[in-house]
Amino acid sequence: MSVTLNVNGQDYVVDADPDTPLLWALRDHIELTGTKFGCGIAMCGACTMHVDGNPIRSCSTPIAAVGGRMITTIEGVESKAARAVQDAWTELQVPQCGYCQSGQIMSATALLESNPNPTDADIDAAMQGNVCRCATYVRIRSAIKSAAKSIG
Ligand code: FES
Ligand code: FES
Repeated sequence: MSVTLNVNGQDYVVDADPDTPLLWALRDHIELTGTKFGCGIAMCGACTMHVDGNPIRSCSTPIAAVGGRMITTIEGVESKAARAVQDAWTELQVPQCGYCQSGQIMSATALLESNPNPTDADIDAAMQGNVCRCATYVRIRSAIKSAAKSIG
């Protein structure tokens, strides 16, 4: 069966089982590999991307659930908040190994798109599902605050 996925503004026809996780479809069929596989059970946030602007765990989202919806990945996210987040990430040298960081950036971007002036509690709530084994959490928080200031 085929499902049409709109990814970063472009339609792709994916010939796969409707239960196929969105992450597999993007990495294996569309060859967008910026989004990473971590746990596969919606527990680490490495696979975070946006569907209709909201952060979702693509490892646990079947393609049948997102046909015709607006999917945005790290390769295509380009809002004002997204640019501010990526600039702050670079400026504050947030990544260590980098594996979790596309998911972190997608969650942070979604936060700032819906709440341009987040409190510490807002940041904690938005980011708590994104695990970093290199423990970059302090710099992530600083970068989100820096990005918020730059778009404020
Ligand atoms: S790989 Fe999807 S949440 Fe961990
Ligand atoms: S930077 Fe290494 S897992 Fe987060």
